[in-house]
Formats: sequence, C-alpha cells, structure tokens
Amino acid sequence: MRLSIFLLFSSLIFGGYYCYENKFRFSGTVYCKSEHRWCVRIRVIEVDTLIDDSIASTDFCSDETTKTYDIAGTDENDGILDRNFEIQMIVTHNCSRNTDTVFKTPIKRIPLPKQPTEHATIRQHLNLNMNSSQ
Ligand SMILES: *[C@@H]1O[C@H](CO)[C@@H](O)[C@H](O)[C@H]1NC(C)=O
Repeated sequence: MRLSIFLLFSSLIFGGYYCYENKFRFSGTVYCKSEHRWCVRIRVIEVDTLIDDSIASTDFCSDETTKTYDIAGTDENDGILDRNFEIQMIVTHNCSRNTDTVFKTPIKRIPLPKQPTEHATIRQHLNLNMNSSQ
C-alpha cells in the first residue's frame, strides 16, 4: 500500500517518464442487412481506467449492406496503474429496429509497451444483425 502510494506520487512527479502516447488504429467492416437506411456509431474505449478513456469514434449512415470503417486514435498510459490496455468497442445502431441498439465487443487486452508505440491495426468485423463482432 505504502509502496504503491509512493509509486503513484513519483509517477505524478516524474510524469514525463511514465506517460507516453500509444497510437491505435481500428478498421473493419460493418454488416447490416436492412430494407431501410441505417446508422451506426462506433466508440472505442479503454475500460480499465477510473473513467473510461475514449480512444476513437466514428459515426455514419448507409443504404448498403456492408460498409468499411477506419479510425485512428491515441491513448496515453501511465505505465504504473495497470499492465494492459483493455480495449472495447461500444456499437450503437438502428440496423434492425428503429430504436437504437447498443452492444459491446469482447475486451481485447494489449500489453503496455515500454515506449511510445504505434500499434498494429486492430481489425474487427461488426455484424449489426447479430449484435456482435465475429
Ligand atoms: C436510423 O436513423 C436514421 C437517422 O436518424 C434514420 O434516417 C433511419 O431511417 C433510421 N433507420 C431505421 C431502420 O429506423
């Protein structure tokens, strides 16, 4: 306990040492079979901080069955409070209903790197009819 408080303070004081930027990129396809125009919002968050960090987001509408997305974002890590990025997508859409439906993708854990890093693109297919990622 005492040690972790010490580490927390030293990370605040020597913040420059521990805080560094991580670049993320997310891309994939969104599938929605619908007779109507549909809209989707994809928000990527880092879940294991005190307040969920928003890393990237996009929203668009389409008349087509398949659309691609490609979004980029950055997240800082303090390198001390946790060992992994825990990344999750929150998908809000009106594909098969006229009210919004929300679902979350499974959490993806990415080990924290030791220096600023540009992470490999995370690919995720989203099937709005199934309300899931596959
Ligand atoms: C989804 O929302 C958009 C924008 O509000 C609307 O134009 C569209 O008709 C909606 N689609 C369905 C299936 O309700």
